[in-house]
Amino acid sequence: MSGHIVLIGMMGAGKTTVGSRLARALDRPFVDSDAQVEQRTARTVREIFETEGEAAYRALEAEALAAALASEEPAVIAAAGGTILDPTNRRRMKEFGTVVFLEAKPADLVGRVGGDDHRPLLRDDPAGVLEEMDRVRRHLYEETADVVVDVSALGPDDVVAEIVRQVAPT
Ligand code: S3P
Repeated sequence: MSGHIVLIGMMGAGKTTVGSRLARALDRPFVDSDAQVEQRTARTVREIFETEGEAAYRALEAEALAAALASEEPAVIAAAGGTILDPTNRRRMKEFGTVVFLEAKPADLVGRVGGDDHRPLLRDDPAGVLEEMDRVRRHLYEETADVVVDVSALGPDDVVAEIVRQVAPT
């Protein structure tokens, strides 16, 4: 079993920002599952959703996550928001890493999610979509997590410090 740190949570919770800073602080590689999908397919997440649909994207996402988790070198892995929907993804994360849930309320996330190219699901009603996602997913984030960090009142560097404190990797 390898000691990855896997960050989970909703879009806008800060997985990419916190993950890259945490990786730098721990001198580990940083792997972002969406960036891996985009690199492997040479397409944006939005293009994949639009041309092949969500199910095809979810399969690519699962492959990218599995590849990251299979790497021997302990890394910090930002797992895109929907990865926890798949039970196999959840099992693999727990098997190969310490899972950290960056917890935030949907209302706090609205202002933090830009309409960028990797979040096509937010389209016209980000607040409503985030509320609904939170309702469906919160228990999955909670049951998958080894550690929960409430990020609503913390800046990225404070979140990094809190993860280091709680996970205390060797
Ligand atoms: C999604 C989250 C996004 C991206 C896609 C779907 C989700 O990643 O994978 O838009 O279903 O929560 P981030 O969590 O990195 O924003």
